[in-house]
Amino acid sequence: MAEKVRAGILGVGSAVPERVLTNFDLEKMVDTSDEWISTRTGIKERRIAAPHERTSHYAAKAASKALERAGVDPSELDLIIVATLTPDMFCPPTACIVQDRINAPQAAAFDLSAACSGFVYALDVAVRGVESGAYRRVLVIGADLLSHVTDYTDRSTCVLFGDGAGAAVVGPVEKGGVLSTYLGADGSGGPKLTVPAYRAGSAGPDGCAPGQGCYIRMEGNEVFKFAVRVMPEAALEALRRAGVAPEDVDLFIPHQANIRIIDAAAKRLGISSDKVFVNVHKYGNTSAASIPLALDEALEQGRISEGDTVVLVGFGGGLTWAASVLVWSGERVPRG
Ligand code: ACO
Repeated sequence: MAEKVRAGILGVGSAVPERVLTNFDLEKMVDTSDEWISTRTGIKERRIAAPHERTSHYAAKAASKALERAGVDPSELDLIIVATLTPDMFCPPTACIVQDRINAPQAAAFDLSAACSGFVYALDVAVRGVESGAYRRVLVIGADLLSHVTDYTDRSTCVLFGDGAGAAVVGPVEKGGVLSTYLGADGSGGPKLTVPAYRAGSAGPDGCAPGQGCYIRMEGNEVFKFAVRVMPEAALEALRRAGVAPEDVDLFIPHQANIRIIDAAAKRLGISSDKVFVNVHKYGNTSAASIPLALDEALEQGRISEGDTVVLVGFGGGLTWAASVLVWSGERVPRG
């Protein structure tokens, strides 16, 4: 009998805008303070795209880096999935725009909408596609320009969000790989976090004025409680499915929304802070980009070595949640 194919991440890349928006900049825009934002969220600054830029721009940049590190040519890709809640437009899908930009003519392409859980949702699709033998090379991208759906007159949300993209190439691996994924949703909680309408580049001349319903509205406290409960639950279920004990995890990479949520989840899991990767202070909440951006930085900083067990876990609008346990099998092109 043929051995089961195991899928793994072959290479990771990320891209963020150059412009930095600090807490001190926000103090000049709304009634807030660096002290409030730092202590309530852990965020110090975030990156903001130019109004004319679109999600595909950063998605394609992140993708090219991931492909290079994986040693995979774009022509080898069978499928491209872009997880985003801020597509360039409703049609064509952002994944098709990326396919054209990176020159991957053999790849099918579609967008996936699961808010901040989108990257791990897309990873699940990629892993199952590779394990089934249907695909050999899948490009999974999490990319969002949340500045395009942020109301910069609403202090309760505008301090939280930022822009970025992260990508991973998924394919068969001989050692390690993705041991488990676990996805969930609770649609009854959907009204707690909504973006009723959307137009990319809302800060630009074609944009949407505050009050027109094109912005994130969120019951922050409710989402906070949901996140603190669901992050450890999702991580534990993914660990159970992988047959891995929490104490055997080398690095925990949570969705970067709020340091208080991350700390509470790690505490419930009994994972010490040195095993938790945090970069929320630099980027704020970048939605679907958050986890792959953190994974890329963790690799950049040498926080992950071959054979390490890594847990990815996210939550977000929907409401949704998703977690994955993987054993790192390395990239063909070494960093540095
Ligand atoms: N600056 C100063 N004061 C503020 C600000 C601000 N930026 N924002 C709110 N406040 C005030 C409020 O008005 C309130 O004042 P009041 O007591 O006089 O009414 C006070 O601060 C406390 O507000 P809370 O909302 O209770 O503050 P909390 O400690 O809950 O923090 C926060 C709010 C940061 C939004 C938190 O609830 C949170 O992180 N929630 C989760 C958000 C999240 O992670 N969303 C992820 C989903 S993302 C996705 O899918 C796109």
